[in-house]
Amino acid sequence: MRIPVIAGNWKMNPPRPSEATSLALAVREVADNLPGVTTVVCPPTVFLADVRRAAGGGRLHVGAQTMHWEETGAFTGETSPAMLAELAGFVIIGHSERRQYDNETDEKVGRKVAAAVGHGLRPIAAVGETAEERRAGSTAEVIDRQVRAALGGLGRIGASGLVVAYEPVWAIGTGDAASGEDAQTVAAQIRAILRDLDPGGADEVPIQYGGSCTPDNAAEYFAQPDIDGALVGGASLKPDAFAAILRAAAELGPA
Ligand code: 13P
Repeated sequence: MRIPVIAGNWKMNPPRPSEATSLALAVREVADNLPGVTTVVCPPTVFLADVRRAAGGGRLHVGAQTMHWEETGAFTGETSPAMLAELAGFVIIGHSERRQYDNETDEKVGRKVAAAVGHGLRPIAAVGETAEERRAGSTAEVIDRQVRAALGGLGRIGASGLVVAYEPVWAIGTGDAASGEDAQTVAAQIRAILRDLDPGGADEVPIQYGGSCTPDNAAEYFAQPDIDGALVGGASLKPDAFAAILRAAAELGPA
């Protein structure tokens, strides 16, 4: 039985701490009444403490959007896993925007995932092909490479708390969401790679879909056998839309 994990990736939003707190309070109200769903909000690092306070020790979990793999040191602008562990339970690693704009390579993603688990943080390892890669027919190859690199530093997958997010880059922020069937095909491939790496632990891992996920299409993803939640961008900034996605996950229940 996998409990669905719905995570809101706020990206570089909202602009002010008071708005981050209001948004977290609105999500908390819904999350506290949905025991069958793991609800996570991932604010900008600078708002983590405010959002954690707003979550108030209830059912709402807090996640970071990135981190460094080292404990301390001369890494200007970075946040270490030890620092995050005080404030967050989850951390997104390898989001395509960081791969694209911040030179987050497969190798760095692997180090970060291992460091997160080592500090008791649940990594949400994000993978996905670009439009060009999809057109070239190399989706399966890209997914295989990214997933194996992301998990390469983990000893065991079972009991690691790992979450994998399949986010096709072409679907992010475009309104051009993947079909449930296409997302399931890739999620099943990810599940098979997890089985190959750790036959005993693979079925524990929630696999999320991300990319233009909205209240209108969420249920279609949650109905798929290998999809156990969503990584939500734009819709996670609208309390009503995010609440509707959370309810859709609660209705369909654990896979
Ligand atoms: P959108 O839901 O805005 O497409 O963003 C998806 C995403 O990147 C979540 O990490």
